Amino acid sequence: MTDATHDATIDWNEFWHEADDDDRDSATPSTHHVRGLLDDLFDAKGVPDSFADVGCGPGIVAFHVADRHPETAVVGYDAAETILDENRERARDEGYENVDFERTVLPEFDPGRQFDVVLTFGTLAYVADSERALQALYDAVAPGGSLVLGYINRGGRAHYHRLLDDPDEHAPEGFDPGRFEERFKLVLDGESTLSYRQIRDALGTWPRSFWEFTERPEQRWAWDHAPLVWVPK
Ligand SMILES: C[S@@+](CC[C@H](N)C(=O)[O-])C[C@H]1O[C@@H](n2cnc3c(N)ncnc32)[C@H](O)[C@@H]1O
Repeated sequence: MTDATHDATIDWNEFWHEADDDDRDSATPSTHHVRGLLDDLFDAKGVPDSFADVGCGPGIVAFHVADRHPETAVVGYDAAETILDENRERARDEGYENVDFERTVLPEFDPGRQFDVVLTFGTLAYVADSERALQALYDAVAPGGSLVLGYINRGGRAHYHRLLDDPDEHAPEGFDPGRFEERFKLVLDGESTLSYRQIRDALGTWPRSFWEFTERPEQRWAWDHAPLVWVPK
């Protein structure tokens, strides 16, 4: 296993060590984009006995699932030891018995077991070999389970270029072009974008839309640029 995340992104270990509230908000998109939709998935397909979140950050989803489903064994994985330590401390302090945190650096993921549901969200953007990562993540899904994926597509890449080309017109207040470019270099270079077809080619199964069983939320641009899909196994 390598020690660091990809060179062409930020140092995530340092990021979480130094992150203020704004940094944390900017790096926890699952807060508003995943929690509710995952609840809908579990309502539609059943609550999993085991659940993994790979690239879990501060465990927004891992703690949410562990809270709502005390019978589900939850493991959050991340490359950054700093955030894993913080999560383990929280789990200990708050008395969680069904959540653990382990280190992995995608594209490698070899947990030595399978899970009913494996999620990765807001993380593949930082992984150059995302097709290899997809295969490792899918290998960790138990038969009958699902891989749930958030990824950035070509439309997302174009949007990121627009933000940098004309920040006054497109970017939110406080946008830091240098920091953005450093963090999303792999997306800007087209090295970590994915498509339905690439996912199908990597996994041999077409991804499926959440909108099959739940209503598409507002934030239309978000879902066009950064789709959330599930791949049954
Ligand atoms: C933008 S944050 C998303 C966190 C969380 N999934 C969410 O949406 O709230 C990306 C996370 O991926 C982790 N990460 C970055 N590169 C990684 C890699 N190669 N393998 C595993 N985790 C990685 C970072 O440490 C960070 O916690």
